[in-house]
Amino acid sequence: MERTLVLLKPSIVMRGLMGEIITRFERKGLRIAGMKMMRLSDELLAEHYSHHKDKPFFAELRASMQASPVVAICLEGVEAVRVVRSMTGVTNGRDAAIGTIRGDYSMSNHHNVVHASDGPHIAVDEINRFFKPEEVFDLGDTNLGILYSEGELEEWND
Ligand code: CMP
Repeated sequence: MERTLVLLKPSIVMRGLMGEIITRFERKGLRIAGMKMMRLSDELLAEHYSHHKDKPFFAELRASMQASPVVAICLEGVEAVRVVRSMTGVTNGRDAAIGTIRGDYSMSNHHNVVHASDGPHIAVDEINRFFKPEEVFDLGDTNLGILYSEGELEEWND
C-alpha cells in the first residue's frame, strides 16, 4: 500500500485548524499510519528543502516552518501520493481550486498551509526523514474491504 508524507505547517497549527485538515484525510478514506507534532531543526529543513536552498525565499521559508511545531502525518492508501496531491491543490493558495486544502485555507504562495510529497520515491525519502521506522504502524487489513474492491487490493498490495 502506498504511503505519503504530509506536513501541517505552522499556520495550520497556530490557527487551530489541525483537526479540520486531519478530518479531510480520514473522511477521504486515507489511513493514518503515523502522526506526530515536532519542531523542525535547521538541519532537517535544509535537507527537506534542499532544492529550494538557493531561492530568495528560503530564509523566510525556514523561519515560517519554525514559527511553531508542525504536524507530520504518514498517510496510506491506494495511490496515496497522487490522491493527497490532488486534495492539497497547487502551490499558490490563491490559484488552488476551491475544495482543495490550499484553495479553502490559504491566500498565499508561501503560507500554503500544507506540504505533501511530490512523487512515490520522494514520499519514501520524506517518510524516512520525518519518522523512525517504529513510528510508522502496520494498520492491518481490517477496514480495507470497505475502502477498496478485492481487485484494487490485489493490484496495490505489495
Ligand atoms: P511546499 O510544498 O512546502 O514546498 C516548498 C515551499 O516553498 C512551498 O510549499 C511554499 O511554502 C514555498 N514557496 C514555493 N514557491 C514560493 C515562492 N515563489 N515564494 C515564496 N514561497 C514559495
